[in-house]
Amino acid sequence: MLVSPSLLAADFLHLENEIRMLNSAADWIHLDVMDGSFVPNISFGFSVIDAVSSIAERPMDVHLMVVQPQKWIERLASAGVSCVSFHYEAAGDGTSALIREIRSYGMKAGVVINPDVPVEELFAFIGEADFFLVMSVFAGFGGQRFMDSSLERISTLKSEIRRRGAETMIEVDGGVCNDNASALREAGADILVAGSSVFKSPDPAAAIARLREA
Ligand code: DX5
Ligand code: ZN
Repeated sequence: MLVSPSLLAADFLHLENEIRMLNSAADWIHLDVMDGSFVPNISFGFSVIDAVSSIAERPMDVHLMVVQPQKWIERLASAGVSCVSFHYEAAGDGTSALIREIRSYGMKAGVVINPDVPVEELFAFIGEADFFLVMSVFAGFGGQRFMDSSLERISTLKSEIRRRGAETMIEVDGGVCNDNASALREAGADILVAGSSVFKSPDPAAAIARLREA
């Protein structure tokens, strides 16, 4: 199980310390980019991504919550990002082309869905995408409560991936903590994104280790 802590919950006054901690404790570093249109919130953009990139020793996992994800792929590649996920709700018919574009830069491509999109919509991209990001809260804010209905969505997706003998991984994002990590693993999650449960813990590195071992 991989753990990709979400920087959204980090201490932005001490971002360098947070990244150094993640360099030794995390598998990936999750960066949530919000544009105030696709979601009702604004987070951060390239000034933060470039600064993180200058000291990150773990793959940077950018989750785009923006209306036109295709506009930013080349810029993300030049920032040194390893994984880019974008919402199916934003890309629609352009999803396959966007997966190909992201992969053409040597980055891993992820397709994200909010909890109200039927998980079967992702079946078309099994074997095409490197990973799927199943939201376990509605995208837009950290600190929300995990939706238990996500477990069944993940196991449905995992069964179909296995049935086709594909390698597409499943990442989960939103309200992930110790209470649901082992159920998520059993349902078929490969990568856990966790913001609050890591950064609000008195020992974030230990919190990451516990999630990984769930
Ligand atoms: C929500 C973001 C998440 C968020 C997770 O839109 O995609 O990555 O930071 O935060 P927690 O773990 O606090 O739910
Ligand atoms: Zn995210």
